[in-house]
Amino acid sequence: MQRYATEQFDGRMVEEEKLFLLLDIIRYSPSAFNLQPWKIKIVSASRIKASLRPHANDQPQITSCSHLLVICANTELEALLDKVLEGMLQSGVQKQVVEQYATMIREYISSMSAEQRMSFAREQIYIALGNAVNGAKSLGFDSCPMGGFDPAAFADVLFLPEEYVPVVLCAIGYAADSPPPKMRLPREDVFF
Ligand SMILES: Cc1cc2nc3c(=O)[nH]c(=O)nc-3n(C[C@H](O)[C@H](O)[C@H](O)COP(=O)(O)O)c2cc1C
Repeated sequence: MQRYATEQFDGRMVEEEKLFLLLDIIRYSPSAFNLQPWKIKIVSASRIKASLRPHANDQPQITSCSHLLVICANTELEALLDKVLEGMLQSGVQKQVVEQYATMIREYISSMSAEQRMSFAREQIYIALGNAVNGAKSLGFDSCPMGGFDPAAFADVLFLPEEYVPVVLCAIGYAADSPPPKMRLPREDVFF
């Protein structure tokens, strides 16, 4: 209820300690098969934020925020799976269990087209985004989820490798504006 899509930040930087807590909240988001198909570029340099703003409908959040999280899909699912399997073995999961899991997931992901990989990654990314915006408020600062930007132009400005595709942004910082009145559909329209 306290969180809102902040349009204008006051330019103060989020303290490093709080930023790292938020990054952990994001990192610990759930994802299907625990594949964590995201890669997040953290932009804090004013010069880069200024170059990005024209590619995000000139929205003031881009330059006034403390950090801009550019949440990208990581569609290299096989490489992610290898890392997850390695992590499972290291954390003491039985080799046989890991192998069974690996066979099942490998089969599933090997049949996925490039498009299916992108939509799989997108679905998981929006869970991380939800955690980011509520996580920020829980740590005492503000955020704005942002879909109004040109992913290809962002990839160019940030020199992103081809396998990381920008999906959504999350600007974080301290608000300089006030929350507008909250409008939400009533319970009876939402639940049945
Ligand atoms: C995926 C997504 C994309 C959004 N894109 C933008 C955006 O580009 N610019 C913006 O000002 N707000 C953006 N919003 C914020 C919504 O407009 C806002 O969450 C909604 O109006 C509800 O208001 P509240 O978050 O303040 O409660 C976006 C929200 C989501 C979830």
